[in-house]
Amino acid sequence: MSDAGSGTGAVVVNRAMSLDGFIAGPGHAMDWIAEHLTAADVPEVMAATGAMLIGRRTYEVARRMAGRGTPYDGGAQFVLTHRPPDDPDPAVTFLTCGLEEAVATARAAAGGRNLEVLGADVAAQCLRHGLVDEILVYVLPVLLGDGVRFSPPGLGRIELEPFATTRSGAVTTLRFRVRKPEPPAAAAAPPRQTPSP
Ligand SMILES: NC(=O)c1ccc[n+]([C@@H]2O[C@H](COP(=O)([O-])OP(=O)(O)OC[C@H]3O[C@@H](n4cnc5c(N)ncnc54)[C@H](OP(=O)(O)O)[C@@H]3O)[C@@H](O)[C@H]2O)c1
Repeated sequence: MSDAGSGTGAVVVNRAMSLDGFIAGPGHAMDWIAEHLTAADVPEVMAATGAMLIGRRTYEVARRMAGRGTPYDGGAQFVLTHRPPDDPDPAVTFLTCGLEEAVATARAAAGGRNLEVLGADVAAQCLRHGLVDEILVYVLPVLLGDGVRFSPPGLGRIELEPFATTRSGAVTTLRFRVRKPEPPAAAAAPPRQTPSP
């Protein structure tokens, strides 16, 4: 839910997923996505996005696929890694800071539009730390059987609130708000003493 007017975009985990819950096939295969969905199909999502925070593996796979299909223009790209390359790509910013600082940095660059978080590992960490506002999933009509799951094991339970479901051609788009845990209730006030007569 971008709210560019008020200067605060949402942090959105955004991915295409096979019906059996994979976001990449075996060997990081991504060809199954382009068969059903390209950047040209989601201009409104691209327009609402001001920056992207991606994991290093997502960056490497995207680099191998460069030049194929419609480029996705999600604004400034930030790549989270423990070891930035010796010869960094000037088109992206490599971040080695902590997760919260990485999200804050990329979010600031989004200029009031949404920050998209891509990559199962990085997205799961953001979810675990309560940094995600929304999950947007394009469910594609394919079973992959194996590959990179929506999230790695151990993410734990996170409550979601569905707010939009649409279908266009073969693609079903599901959108959920992430329920943030309630802040702990204030300590109960001690019972009032009735003054003795
Ligand atoms: N279906 C879709 O829409 C979609 C979208 C995006 C990606 N994908 C696919 O998802 C796969 C990649 O996902 P993934 O979960 O394997 O990996 P990922 O999240 O893209 O990247 C993981 C890497 O990011 C770095 N990293 C993670 N957390 C970090 C932290 N806290 N601090 C510093 N660096 C950190 C590490 O790289 P270093 O080892 O360099 O430190 C780690 O190995 C690819 O196949 C990609 O194509 C699919």
